Amino acid sequence: MHRAVLLLSLCATVLVAGPPPKPIHDSSLGLSHTSVFEIPAPPLHQDEGSAPGEKPLPKRINRETPPIIPHGLSDCLPITRSSNLCMDCHAVPGPKRKGEATPIPGSHFVDLRRAPHAKGKQLAGSRYVCISCHVSRTDARLLVGSTYRP
Ligand code: HEC
Ligand code: HEC
Repeated sequence: MHRAVLLLSLCATVLVAGPPPKPIHDSSLGLSHTSVFEIPAPPLHQDEGSAPGEKPLPKRINRETPPIIPHGLSDCLPITRSSNLCMDCHAVPGPKRKGEATPIPGSHFVDLRRAPHAKGKQLAGSRYVCISCHVSRTDARLLVGSTYRP
């Protein structure tokens, strides 16, 4: 009698919950698509080496996203307190002239934390390290594709 009840409830559980999920193979867990016990070498990629102004600007996705740095930047790194070569070229009053460094936009002179409604005279501290937002061109393969269309 007891055994029959047990069998019945077991059947009910399987019916309600369905069969147990299939295990996920460890090579499907990460972006490298290898076993989690392997340490694969990342695919080689080439850093952008062109001089500023040498190549045409890539098309911008929209006006809100930080534009890609179209030229090589190894000469500009590291950005330190006493040296910011990006500023040397880009801190120009404008208006923008073709082939010359694009002036740093007014938004970068607004201190969003302390004076969000006023354009300051100096670059806001949060904008000092340009490469925290602007990324370089690269031929590195995307790990995850994007279907975003502006
Ligand atoms: C020697 C001068 C020089 C230096 C140094 C320099 N740039 Fe540039 N930058 C340029 C020129 C010239 C262009 C190209 C403008 C064009 O083709 O219209 C440019 C383009 C850009 C653009 C694209 C602007 C746009 O209109 O879409 C970004 C972003 C940028 N640079 C960021 C940086 C950052 C960040 C650094 C420091 C890591 C840096 N640049 C260092 C001269 C320079
Ligand atoms: C906190 C993120 C952030 C940092 C740091 C930053 N930028 Fe930007 N930048 C942006 C965004 C977002 C835009 C596009 C919206 C705008 O123009 O404000 C932009 C736009 C630009 C443009 C294009 C302007 C135009 O007229 O199209 C230039 C040039 C630029 N930044 C240069 C720099 C330089 C040089 C630095 C370092 C001194 C820097 N940025 C630091 C986020 C940042």
